Amino acid sequence: MRVGVLTGGGDCPGLNAVIRAVVRKGIEVHGWEFTGFRNGWQGPITGESKPLGLADVEDILTRGGTILRSSRTNPYQVDGGVEKIRTVLEDQGVDALIAIGGEDTLGVAKRLTDDGIGVVGVPKTIDNDLNATDYTFGFDTAVSIATEAIDRLHTTAESHHRALVIEVMGRHAGWIALHSGLAGGASVILMPERHFSVDQVVQWVERRFEKEYAPIIVVAEGALPEGGEEKLLTGEKDAFGHVRLGGIGNWLADEISARTGKESRAVVLGHVQRGGTPTAYDRVLATRFGLHAVDAVADGDFGVMVALKGTDIVRVKLSEATAELKTVPLERYEEAEVFFG
Ligand code: F6P
Repeated sequence: MRVGVLTGGGDCPGLNAVIRAVVRKGIEVHGWEFTGFRNGWQGPITGESKPLGLADVEDILTRGGTILRSSRTNPYQVDGGVEKIRTVLEDQGVDALIAIGGEDTLGVAKRLTDDGIGVVGVPKTIDNDLNATDYTFGFDTAVSIATEAIDRLHTTAESHHRALVIEVMGRHAGWIALHSGLAGGASVILMPERHFSVDQVVQWVERRFEKEYAPIIVVAEGALPEGGEEKLLTGEKDAFGHVRLGGIGNWLADEISARTGKESRAVVLGHVQRGGTPTAYDRVLATRFGLHAVDAVADGDFGVMVALKGTDIVRVKLSEATAELKTVPLERYEEAEVFFG
């Protein structure tokens, strides 16, 4: 049996931990061989691949990024993409695929399974917005990095009597903003699921200053002011139709300065949240996902994604996992509101 492995979409700490677990268990327990496809779905389309053996996965548990590299290639947007994948898999003797990715990569995995190609999915995204799993790996690392940044911003904001806005990732879901904001004691948290009133933010900021304390505002990149529009870095769309968000932090900092007369600055955390070594939690979750993905392949159970439910790893249908995004329920946001202002 030969199994292909690929990583697609935005990278995320823990990808290498999954690859290591898959290859170790696949070889040591089942005696399988592995092909690592390069650059997400681009690999199975072009045939760019390399054999993956035990030596290739030595020392990668703690390494960030992905040894297989990644891309946002969508085979369904490439002329004859699916047929090319079929041919490459046949030519390279690959019997099944393990695809590690978020909603886009796994959406493709679902369609390929419907088209007769056996795929098992492993959920990754720092945004934690994949449905049907309690957590995705990478999220805990991103929250830890954002929390450390907030801790550091508190002390410098206080010294200068400034309001500091920190923009974190989260295109459609505010999980990173909510968790890092709660962990870091933010004065205001703003997320895509709840459009915010700038007047209300200004009130919270002023109340914070009255308490002789410098306000820290955590804003997800996809957060929107009431009646406003998403702030875009460019109008360009990727192969899955996503625009590049960015700019809400600087816009809000300017609004706060103009309306309160207090100095306000923005920090955009960006890809720092995705780089570097995973936390212990993410290493364990990624490893367990990898081990269970191998079990699914061994059972011939394709069209599924491994998922975390409580403390158990279970299998869910890829169709369920990709049907909709897991956004932050409003009652979870409201829990945090007591700390605002
Ligand atoms: O999909 C995860 C994510 O981290 C989003 O929050 C963010 O909008 C996007 O990736 C940015 O990724 P890139 O800069 O690689 O396009």
